Amino acid sequence: MSETVAFPQDRTCPYHPPAAYAPLRETRPLSRVTLFDGRSVWVVTGHAEARALLSDGRLSSDRQNAAFPATTKRFKGLTARRTALLGVDDPEHNTQRRMLIPSFSVKRIAALRPQIQQTVDRLIDGMTAKGAPAELVSAFALPVPSMVICALLGVPYEDHEFFEAKSRQLLRGPELSDVEEARHSLDGYLRDLIGRKRTDPGDGLLDELIAQRLETGQTDVEELVALAVILLIAGHETTANMISLGTFTLLRHPEQLAELRADPSLMSEAVEELMRFLSIADGMLRVATEDIEIGGVTIGADDGVVFSTSVINRDESVFPDPDSLDWHRPTRHHLAFGFGIHQCLGQNLARAEMEIALGSLFARLPGLRLAEEPDRIPFKPGDTIQGMIELPVAW
Ligand code: HEM
Repeated sequence: MSETVAFPQDRTCPYHPPAAYAPLRETRPLSRVTLFDGRSVWVVTGHAEARALLSDGRLSSDRQNAAFPATTKRFKGLTARRTALLGVDDPEHNTQRRMLIPSFSVKRIAALRPQIQQTVDRLIDGMTAKGAPAELVSAFALPVPSMVICALLGVPYEDHEFFEAKSRQLLRGPELSDVEEARHSLDGYLRDLIGRKRTDPGDGLLDELIAQRLETGQTDVEELVALAVILLIAGHETTANMISLGTFTLLRHPEQLAELRADPSLMSEAVEELMRFLSIADGMLRVATEDIEIGGVTIGADDGVVFSTSVINRDESVFPDPDSLDWHRPTRHHLAFGFGIHQCLGQNLARAEMEIALGSLFARLPGLRLAEEPDRIPFKPGDTIQGMIELPVAW
């Protein structure tokens, strides 16, 4: 019975949905799962229903709503202040998002590509200078997006160890107090940085927002701090996981990798299919503010709703033979970047980073291989963004 499926669960293989979610495929498009605290919530697993619900204003992202579901004990009862963008509904959400949209447009991101390429080349130069083996998460997968988001925002990369550690703590705890402390530290760090920039401006997005929005009274320091926190975290953690898990997955699919190496023009389709296949942000959360009838059921007001992206993106009515990795399928309508008003703001940036990072890594290190037995390489638990904890490689 689907009622007995616990959510979230650890993956058995880092690139497939947890084996324990198999019953959820049979109960598409919606069924029930049980959270760690015994609460029963709706799980959305059908592609069409997910798109409809993610565009439905009756589902709220407001994490301060007492009925908002928590998927782990470290997020239950969070008193840290409001999460910008991801944690607010329209109209507040729309006001915040409009401030940032121009900076993440296709055109603005295309202009960043040479800088991303330079960053990637420098990191690969560093790896080859040191020689194999290397631990790819710390040598490459994390520094690429971390350096890029620092340059984009105008955050000094010298501080990366601090904010990377705090972001990890914010996402993985283990305790609620760790999450609260991490948010407090990141808030303090960005509040100080914004304060310094007001007297000594630089040329990043934060500097632009200070000049155009803060000094003109359209926003205040606290809202800008909250926006900076989310951009800094979302800007490096997620893409780092896609680069590490994407590399692991390609190395475990030699035929597909050989095809990609022979024809690098396939890279943008490959990135999109990897996004679908890996679905690293598995478990977007919402709470219903009114009754909603969908897929033959009624989601009641105050019911929790979780979107299992990994199961949605393997809906065989939309992606035939969904468990195979196939660059040649139409894959763009996957939901790995979400859908609706909260659809990933940084998706153009993430795509550019993944294309350049994976493309250059496999082109410049033709002998790239795992330096450890695949089943001994640690990957992240199911209650956070999916990715490799470490990735030992040689070439
Ligand atoms: C491959 C990497 C990435 C993945 C898988 C990813 C995934 C997602 C998903 C699933 C959402 C929607 C969450 C929801 O509806 O509850 C989201 C939102 C968001 N993402 Fe990403 N993301 C990635 C990279 C980035 C990057 C590089 C940035 C850069 C700043 C970014 C910034 C954001 C922001 C600000 C939001 C909130 C948007 C809103 O609420 O309007 N993401 N992301």
